[in-house]
Amino acid sequence: MTTDSPFPELKKSHSMARTGRPWRDRKPPPSAPVWALIQGFGSYWTLVAAVELGVFDSAERLGPSTAVELAGELAVSAPHLRHVLDALVSFGLFDQVDDCYELTETAERYLCADGAATMASLVRIAPGPLGNWEQLAQTVRTGKVQTPIEHDPAPFYGPLVTATFPTQHRAATRLGISVGWPRRPGLRVLDLGAGRAPWAIAVLEQSAGSTAVINDLDGVIGFAAETLMSQGLRDRAELRPGDFHNIRLESEHYDIVVLGHICRTEGDERAAGLVRRAAEALVPGGQIVLADYFADNDRKHNAFGVHMGLTMLANTERGGVLTHRQVYGWLAGAGLEAIRLVEPIGFNQVYLATKPLGGQLT
Ligand SMILES: C[S@@+](CC[C@H](N)C(=O)[O-])C[C@H]1O[C@@H](n2cnc3c(N)ncnc32)[C@H](O)[C@@H]1O
Repeated sequence: MTTDSPFPELKKSHSMARTGRPWRDRKPPPSAPVWALIQGFGSYWTLVAAVELGVFDSAERLGPSTAVELAGELAVSAPHLRHVLDALVSFGLFDQVDDCYELTETAERYLCADGAATMASLVRIAPGPLGNWEQLAQTVRTGKVQTPIEHDPAPFYGPLVTATFPTQHRAATRLGISVGWPRRPGLRVLDLGAGRAPWAIAVLEQSAGSTAVINDLDGVIGFAAETLMSQGLRDRAELRPGDFHNIRLESEHYDIVVLGHICRTEGDERAAGLVRRAAEALVPGGQIVLADYFADNDRKHNAFGVHMGLTMLANTERGGVLTHRQVYGWLAGAGLEAIRLVEPIGFNQVYLATKPLGGQLT
């Protein structure tokens, strides 16, 4: 059997052994990936500027408009705004026909302040403090972040959990409907590192007579209280401030324990410990809900998960990428069973794992 040459257009005698990698002789590789990364910096800051200026909200109010009309509405320089709008067209956030600009559906949904799944206030916060990125080489050299978020968590996490609440509440609501919380009255839920408590609130909303214990750090838990109050759910929730590694937890007490986007900052050992604590707090038959942004096991097929891990590396003391193998290992290692992965909304994956009915954890 003859095998086909992978590069039949090249001379058969032009082997790698004799003259190096032959395809490089014919056509140099593109510089496009390097330019894309360099311009990625400008792209990000253009998006930040557009959100800060209110470009998306104004365009929504005005409907299709020229740069001059939009600039008038925003009281900014029209030539400068036109450049920004053209960049936003190149990102797929605006359409432009005959110099008339119109929001795309992506921008309407995710970047207008009143969008159904708004991420507008997340844009500036999600990468973490800019200084940590400028220091990344030094972080890699020393293995230490100079000013990790843990040194002063409340000023970072307060705005972050406010910005992520709509997305996480949507994910939690869809999850609850698919796993049947509305059919199970009186659920007891523990939400560790709850932020504004989107997961616990979804349980309280769906399961009649359910109650929640909500944990977060001292300076952040007030945000959960505020949201519970505004939803009329405050009297069904106990606030339990403190470090989730140390706070008092009842044994075999909760039907659901939520670890919502808290494991990726903790490092392998501490996250495994958190999962063991959570498992201990579950009643037999109870379920852990572990939501996070995971990467594939080879850390190369899911760029989103890999980059989320890098954001943790750049900004936190112990955080990094989470692979499915690693998370499965924590859950199975804590003696949980029926471990499955669901994706209630795009990019938001959740592990569910059940404590055996015998109650015996390995
Ligand atoms: C990324 S937010 C996730 C918030 C929420 N669970 C969600 O899914 O939207 C991480 C939360 O964990 C909290 N947190 C971080 N370290 C903590 C600790 N050691 N003890 C308790 N809460 C902590 C932060 O204050 C923040 O509210």
